[in-house]
Amino acid sequence: MTSRPDDDSLASLAAHSVELISALQHPSGAYPASPTFSAYTGYSWFRDGAFIADGMSSANAIDSASRFFDWCASILIARRGQIETIERAEAAGTPLDNSQMLATRFTFDGAEGDDDWWDFQTDGYGTWVWAVVAHAQRHDLDLDRWREGIELSVRYLLATWERPCFDWWEEFETERHVSTLGCVIAGLSAAASTDVLSVDVATRARDAASAARELIETDGVRDGHLVKWLGSDAVDGSLAALISPLAVVDGSRTLARATVAQIDHDLTVDGGVHRYLGDTFYGGGQWPLLSCMLGLAFAAGGNTARARSQLQWAAETVTTDNFLPEQVDDDLLDPSRVAEWRERWGSVATPLLWSHAMYVRLAVEIGVYVPPAPPMASLATTEARHGNESETD
Ligand code: BGC
Repeated sequence: MTSRPDDDSLASLAAHSVELISALQHPSGAYPASPTFSAYTGYSWFRDGAFIADGMSSANAIDSASRFFDWCASILIARRGQIETIERAEAAGTPLDNSQMLATRFTFDGAEGDDDWWDFQTDGYGTWVWAVVAHAQRHDLDLDRWREGIELSVRYLLATWERPCFDWWEEFETERHVSTLGCVIAGLSAAASTDVLSVDVATRARDAASAARELIETDGVRDGHLVKWLGSDAVDGSLAALISPLAVVDGSRTLARATVAQIDHDLTVDGGVHRYLGDTFYGGGQWPLLSCMLGLAFAAGGNTARARSQLQWAAETVTTDNFLPEQVDDDLLDPSRVAEWRERWGSVATPLLWSHAMYVRLAVEIGVYVPPAPPMASLATTEARHGNESETD
């Protein structure tokens, strides 16, 4: 049996991950999902990117995260007209078709791109808002820089959050997914807790967040744990994110503990977490990013030993090139489905930036990686801001 990675190698993989993400970030601020994977090349997702930016922010890569949020805001601002049309149709009781909603992923220069995709996924529009607010709070930055983008994203969610849409895995379009609703709650609550929204939008955001919360805590719970979609009885690995980092469900609650236990029981083999039972994408392997999310959820419940072993499992998936993949095939749910995906899209996406970012996020959370202090330029900006604030006080 090979020995598990020690603290030094765990920390150096985190440092390397931050460098890799920085090196691959596009000048526009967009984070590529995976630079070389056929179906993802040239695109950045709000979902992946928001979690990547959160990981980078936690590692004091302040400017990198801020530039991603600039990119998100610019995409929303460029689509103000589309968002207002969606709002008007919704308010008139004649909601537009899913094909008229905002896209899930964009090219680095902020266009929709020419390739068809499983668009209409609301989670990313909540997650980036949650992440930018967390970033500003963590580093004492002025949220005004992203005000317009945040308000538009919140307005888009207010008009759309009750609709079924594709989930994190870009599947099951007709369901209402608990992880998606969790991202919406996180984004709406975060924005409403700041002073960036107008009073009316802030009130509506708070009301929608509490309605969504009530929904997941009733129709989104079975046998005491959260479930994949409203009315389902199965879990999905993504539910761990609602406990941490999104903190929609406090890690000490019975609901959190039961959800973690169920994900661990149904989807986890040796620390490697499957997306959900029945997954056939590349045979349904285990995803390092989900192993790290489960680790974060364990940490939020006080189980640091399990949090650490989740990090170790993720570290063990690293390739000889020092890349973390989207998934590994040590334990496949359906090996007969690998060939068709290889034929269609080639080898599994490697590196996947989201995997690297979740690894960083967990390594920082449990103190295995202590990031270098923020660069002086960021501190200077923060200090200048404080200076300005005290002048106006
Ligand atoms: C996953 C999505 C992810 C996308 C880009 C898809 O295969 O299902 O969750 O956003 O890849 O990484």
